[in-house]
Amino acid sequence: MNDFVNQFWNWYVILLVLISIVACGVLLWTQSSPPPAGKVDTTGHVWDETLEEYNNPLPKWWMWLFYITVIFGLVYCALFPALGAYQGILNWSSGGQHAKEIEKVDAQIKPMYDKYLKMDLKALAADKEGVETGKRLYLTYCMQCHGADARGAKGFPNLTDNDWLWGGEPAQVVETISNGRMGVMPSHAQLGAETIKDLANYVRSLSGLTADSVRVAKGKEAFNSVGCSGCHGPEAKGTQALGAPNLTDKTWLYGNSEATIIETITKGRNNQMPAWKEFLGEGKVHVLAAYVLSLGGGSK
Ligand code: HEC
Ligand code: HEC
Repeated sequence: MNDFVNQFWNWYVILLVLISIVACGVLLWTQSSPPPAGKVDTTGHVWDETLEEYNNPLPKWWMWLFYITVIFGLVYCALFPALGAYQGILNWSSGGQHAKEIEKVDAQIKPMYDKYLKMDLKALAADKEGVETGKRLYLTYCMQCHGADARGAKGFPNLTDNDWLWGGEPAQVVETISNGRMGVMPSHAQLGAETIKDLANYVRSLSGLTADSVRVAKGKEAFNSVGCSGCHGPEAKGTQALGAPNLTDKTWLYGNSEATIIETITKGRNNQMPAWKEFLGEGKVHVLAAYVLSLGGGSK
């Protein structure tokens, strides 16, 4: 698509291209007639007193090669978009060609995904070929965040364990991949450094980590009174509908050091899993969900 701000530049480009091509032809024409028989034309350059440079036209075959390129140029300009905003007789565009190629590939792979779509997710997760396909998709679209081995990184959940933020039931995994998820832990800076430290000690004690027992008792009380339990549950075992993690297990999204937990509580966390349904289509999401399930995470 050519976007010219006004017609002037459109015609400027068209004339520049056409005049250049025609000028090449005219130049060839004027230089192609041989000097009258018997007469020798020279360029006027002389070396070593008698060595003169002849001004003969190019050989005929060579000349014709140049004429052919001029004709080729004009035909090309007529067929393809080469002249300003003119689309060309063939109406070709790189975007159109790309779209056609994508359409062709989609038509080729559609039967395969249709077959997978008909399969139950658990069956597909046990299907060798289906899992291989899912792995290829995973390595293309998901690896950069969840890692090549799907074990995640700080802020990016491990997909191979039993610990799910949003749930490991087939329907939940499909929903996560299709529409994305937004994990929001609000900032609690208003509680003050002391209470936050109490809370951090309590959270650490939940998974058996060393903690100050006086702070643990105060933190436990605060956990319920300031509303942590509203999201993480009264026993801090998490709430999948909100993506609020279980705080009693050994799996950490951000880290279990006192400093990291204090940072999480003070500043809050905002984490986004992108939505893929529009971009990849239902078939690929289905196969990806099967791949995630095949990683052994199971549901819990
Ligand atoms: C831009 C980074 C990014 C990409 C790319 C990405 N994810 Fe995620 N994904 C996340 C984040 C961040 C979360 C955690 C969201 C939260 O904290 O609530 C997540 C969560 C998930 C979960 C939920 C895990 C749980 O414990 O409930 C699944 C399943 C998942 N991703 C699968 C995928 C798949 C499959 C792909 C490839 C199509 C993918 N992700 C691509 C960032 C990404
Ligand atoms: C509005 C719901 C909500 C409230 C209230 C809330 N949290 Fe969270 N919390 C979350 C969510 C959601 C996450 C996961 C954030 C993400 O996916 O990045 C989280 C993450 C955490 C983590 C990080 C866990 C890890 O694995 O690294 C800790 C620790 C935590 N919360 C403690 C608390 C404490 C303590 C309170 C009370 C002061 C609290 N939360 C209040 C929703 C909440």
